[in-house]
Amino acid sequence: MPVFLQQRASLRPFHTFGTDARAAWMAVADSVDTLRSLRQDSRVRDLPWLVLGAGSNVLFASDFEGLVIRMAIPGVAEVDGDGDAWCIRVGGGENWSDLVAQLVHAERPGLENLAGIPGTVGAAPIQNIGAYGVELAERLHSVTVWDGRRDVLHEMAPEECGFGYRDSVFKGDAGASDAAPAGPGRIVVAVTLRLPRRWQAVAGYAELERELCARGVERPGPREVFDAVLAIRSRKLPDPRILGNAGSFFKNPIVSREIHAELLAHAPSLVSYPLAGGRYKLAAGWLIDACGLKGYTRGRAGVFEKQALVLVNRGGASGQEIWELAQEVQERVRERFGVSIEPEPRIIGA
Ligand code: FAD
Ligand code: EPU
Repeated sequence: MPVFLQQRASLRPFHTFGTDARAAWMAVADSVDTLRSLRQDSRVRDLPWLVLGAGSNVLFASDFEGLVIRMAIPGVAEVDGDGDAWCIRVGGGENWSDLVAQLVHAERPGLENLAGIPGTVGAAPIQNIGAYGVELAERLHSVTVWDGRRDVLHEMAPEECGFGYRDSVFKGDAGASDAAPAGPGRIVVAVTLRLPRRWQAVAGYAELERELCARGVERPGPREVFDAVLAIRSRKLPDPRILGNAGSFFKNPIVSREIHAELLAHAPSLVSYPLAGGRYKLAAGWLIDACGLKGYTRGRAGVFEKQALVLVNRGGASGQEIWELAQEVQERVRERFGVSIEPEPRIIGA
């Protein structure tokens, strides 16, 4: 069955920066069979492919001259776990934050620290989503990928996924990298979560601890953690439906002990976190803020007033304008601190 393909399709409704951009071709995939049909479709099989979930971690600096596939594979099912954990298999097109709410409600806790993160389940492993002390990799049984080069499905264990801070092996794949060859690559079609039956609150993240304390919660249950995380997020992150953004625009840079000591000598209020192996993660939001850029506006793009790590579309900005602002922010941070900050979202067509 040929798949319905839209030509010169507007991407504006399908990504959270809300800028104008077009795809040469666009299709919606609600099954692996649809992906298989696209692989055989002479109109698109040899073009670059880009898989789009909810578009909450991409910036279109220009149009995409290839095939955009909107991931819509559904399904949430409890599968055989083991004595220690529940396992839930979820289709790549399901909405992440709805899933977290649903699982907390159904007494399958473990993801509450990751409440409120926009996007699809299929995109969650791409950058190993993380927030408030938990990363996806810690709650994962396996990732099911369709390898479009060979038309095979396989299950990858977390150890095979190369997970790190905002990183995985998938980042170099079709849809996740400009360097990938044209045509179909590896696409995440489902994720199987592993939620320990012996639930323990992860409440050590300083801001979460403060929020729980302010609410008078001493021994939080999953629901309390869920509510506290959502409250913090709504205070400092803009709602993309109102103000276009992609969450943190830069990753927090990681530096050596020596560089950290040097920076601290010049900037004693620097916010940083020690990591294993003697390295330090720097709060990129602090670095940008310290450059005086919080609230800064360039054309129709800007640095969010409540969180300097978030770039926003102030209304009618082009992807290129946002990208120019991002480069200026990078330059200012490099000049002032000698530190490079790398974009977190995938930048398309820069
Ligand atoms: P998209 O933006 O559509 O895609 C992102 C990348 O993944 C692209 O390269 C795309 O090609 C690739 N991709 C998507 N789906 C697939 C698939 N099925 N197979 C292969 N490749 C695929 N992130 C965090 O980690 N923590 C946060 O706290 C957080 N907060 C955010 C807050 C806001 C307000 C916003 C707007 C974003 C935030 N993000 C956060 C970033 C974003 O929500 C996550 O990265 C999310 O996982 C992206 O999902 P998506 O479906 O929108 O992916
Ligand atoms: N800070 C400032 N000024 C700012 C912003 C931050 O001084 O304008 C300082 C504050 O001291 C603050 C510290 O930076 O305590 C860290 O800020 P925050 O707690 O907001 O966390 P973050 O490092 O900016 C990261 C993730 C978020 C995630 C939160 C909570 C990255 C790139 N970002 O933000 O993820 O929700 O921690 O875990 O790692 C995303 O990836 O899109 C995202 C929103």
